[in-house]
Amino acid sequence: MTNPDLRARRRRLGAFVGGLAATALAVTMALPAAAAGSTLQAAAGESGRYFGTAIAASRLSDSTYSTIANREFNMITAENEMKMDATEPSQGQFSYTQGDRIVNWARQNGKQVRGHALAWHSQQPGWMQNMSGTALRNAMLNHVTQVATYYRGKIYAWDVVNEAFADGSSGARRDSNLQRTGNDWIEAAFRAARAADPNAKLCYNDYNTDDWTHAKTQAVYTMVRDFKARGVPIDCVGLQSHFNAQSPVPSNYQTTLSSFAALGVDVQITELDIEGSGAAQAENYRRVVQACLNVARCTGITVWGVRDTDSWRASGTPLLFDGSGNKKAAYTSTLNTLNAGGTGTPTPTPTPTPTGTPTPTPTPTPTPTTPPPTGTCSASLAIANSWGGGYQATVTVRAGTSSINGWRVTLPGGVSTSNVWNGVLANGVVSNAAYNGSVAAGQTTTFGFIGNGSAPAPGALSCS
Ligand code: XIL
Repeated sequence: MTNPDLRARRRRLGAFVGGLAATALAVTMALPAAAAGSTLQAAAGESGRYFGTAIAASRLSDSTYSTIANREFNMITAENEMKMDATEPSQGQFSYTQGDRIVNWARQNGKQVRGHALAWHSQQPGWMQNMSGTALRNAMLNHVTQVATYYRGKIYAWDVVNEAFADGSSGARRDSNLQRTGNDWIEAAFRAARAADPNAKLCYNDYNTDDWTHAKTQAVYTMVRDFKARGVPIDCVGLQSHFNAQSPVPSNYQTTLSSFAALGVDVQITELDIEGSGAAQAENYRRVVQACLNVARCTGITVWGVRDTDSWRASGTPLLFDGSGNKKAAYTSTLNTLNAGGTGTPTPTPTPTPTGTPTPTPTPTPTPTTPPPTGTCSASLAIANSWGGGYQATVTVRAGTSSINGWRVTLPGGVSTSNVWNGVLANGVVSNAAYNGSVAAGQTTTFGFIGNGSAPAPGALSCS
């Protein structure tokens, strides 16, 4: 596992540096050499992250392919072998042979596995494509339960639901046979997955959700926020991040990552590929990797294949190795960026709550600038993100020297929002939600909101 490895490595590094402490110059020279990873997995591991790839079982016998995959990557996604059509080709008849080839290869080589994908409108088996209504809902839930149960204990994170939102400006759900079973099909799938494998992280995964201003991104964000507020089990959001000239790396990509993370979920880049070549492609990879490194809860990056010729869109040469297995400029820029690090230091991965009713995960909280008054509460506002025309704020509520049972925070004058979570807004005052009113002495809770216009100054707010 990454984090214990990282801690052990840091202890070794610490002992090594300690031994040299008498000579400041030696320490300065030793650190960069000791910190540089020579493979993608080693370089990502320096900050506690993983670096993964999609694997096709049929290619594992190609030694160029498997050598690169084994050397560079420590998180494996089955490119097709764990999808619905592969794992349940006839209703009620499950087939894990191909998925197992990948999972076994990964485990034999000390790698973790991302499960992909339990419920999706695409790559459904024929029998499911023709189903609807309650029969389809039950078949979907049975599929989620059976597959997640079979792989229980072997999956780091599951893409529970894939691609459920429509492209374009509607912000609506994608029409599909699953969607027509009722809007709650997504949360039903997440609850079934949690019950089947309580220790896997549960992710919602999609594409065209990279640009923070896009309606689809906002729609997914709103759903995840709602899930967190209502206790629907969700631990992560996957951004597929398939980029090309028509769909370039957006300038606000990091804002998208940090905004999802601020909801209290991990963020993972799950299917990265960027069409192009040479320096331009290398620069795009740098930007994506740097954005992840700058967001503490961006926990890892997976590229969607090993060599360009392995890619589902091979003509766009979107990967890090050429068809002969040579490292491309994009590889070098990715490796160097990982080694240089970023501003988002991950905390050790918490174990998902092992019940069907997880408690909402509080987001990391900034320390209030003013000491809390005795026996009451204090509140402090921070701006998590801002963009043209809006911003995202996080407010930390801290109990004083006594515990509190309910709180009310007055928003700064001029704040315009209709979008508050972990709290209830009325007449410019946010009071606690049903589940976060009790705060022990000296402890904190948070709420957040999206504001319109320019952000207010950060700092103390009145709390009672
Ligand atoms: C693709 C595979 O790479 C192809 O081999 C297959 O023919 C189609 O699916 N979004 C996803 C992935 O979530 O599962 C898709 O993978 C690419 C787009």
